[in-house]
Amino acid sequence: MFDLVKATKEDGPAIINLLQDVDSYYSELKLENFWLFKAASQLVAVIQLNPYPDFVFLSSLAVTPKNQHQKIASQLLAAVLKNTIQDIYLYTIIPDFFKKLGWQIIDQPKVKLPGKEPYECHACQPQKCVTIVKYASPT
Ligand SMILES: CC(C)(COP(=O)(O)OP(=O)(O)OC[C@H]1O[C@@H](n2cnc3c(N)ncnc32)[C@H](O)[C@@H]1OP(=O)(O)O)[C@@H](O)C(=O)NCCC(=O)NCCS
Repeated sequence: MFDLVKATKEDGPAIINLLQDVDSYYSELKLENFWLFKAASQLVAVIQLNPYPDFVFLSSLAVTPKNQHQKIASQLLAAVLKNTIQDIYLYTIIPDFFKKLGWQIIDQPKVKLPGKEPYECHACQPQKCVTIVKYASPT
């Protein structure tokens, strides 16, 4: 139903627009390693998947407001992570959404994650922000 495509430079403005629409844009955003869900060439959802040597760091998961609550984010996560064999980490203020998909909150990551500063977590809801992980294999 949706086409999963790797973003190109041309997708940059549309990605920024979507992230701004859902209040998830931050000034240090780097437009790299984005994957998109499109329907009839229209952008429906985005996600950023940054590779590190020992893990993958996920961010900027967003669905256009008019397409939310249709399980699109869940489908995008499943599609984009299908072939990922490493642990995947994420900072989020909505851990309950991810818990249903097999993620778990952790206090002490086993790896050195990127800092929260560039993601402007302090300007979001720092008291709600947690680190979550989806392990490559159950621990
Ligand atoms: C979070 C988001 C990606 C979910 O996309 P979606 O396609 O609507 O998600 P799904 O349909 O797969 O799942 C929806 C469920 O997610 C949960 N959920 C969605 N937004 C939530 C929120 N802000 N707080 C808590 N739970 C939330 C709810 O349980 C919801 O169930 P419901 O549809 O029965 O209400 C989307 O709402 C969005 O783009 N939000 C703004 C950006 C954002 O918060 N991104 C997450 C950054 S970690």
